[in-house]
Amino acid sequence: MKKILVIHGPNLNLLGNREINVYGTTTIDEINGDLKKAAKAKGLELTIAQSNHEGEIVELIGKAKGNFDAILINPAAYTHTSVAIRDAISAVDVPTVEVHLSNIYAREEFRHTSLIAPVARGQISGFGKMSYLLGLEAIVDLIKDKA
Ligand code: DQA
Repeated sequence: MKKILVIHGPNLNLLGNREINVYGTTTIDEINGDLKKAAKAKGLELTIAQSNHEGEIVELIGKAKGNFDAILINPAAYTHTSVAIRDAISAVDVPTVEVHLSNIYAREEFRHTSLIAPVARGQISGFGKMSYLLGLEAIVDLIKDKA
């Protein structure tokens, strides 16, 4: 069974109460529930983590090589600031898909730059909870021919 590591970055634990006008009322539990359902249907094993700490996210990614076939990550605010997370993704060479609930290109200018995008296989931004589900779909295709 293919193994996927899902990482939610900082403040995503607050979804449902946080800036509802931007992120809607969907909670992280709902997102995780839908991801688990989709993973089951696709025959994937999911490990899901949320962290507000950059170093913790770096460590999760660092341990992914050999343990996971792909990473689905919403780096949240670290998208725009973290060279460390970018380097971790680059170092482990595990196919990574970046997702965002909001359309980061339609928001403040500082959100228009993703340090993660150049080392991700692709980015999905702006579809709310669906961004994660589309990201998982993309991962299935990315790893389909891998042993
Ligand atoms: C986000 C977008 C980021 O700019 C922001 O810092 C977040 C959430 C999103 O999912 O839309 O925390 O990654």
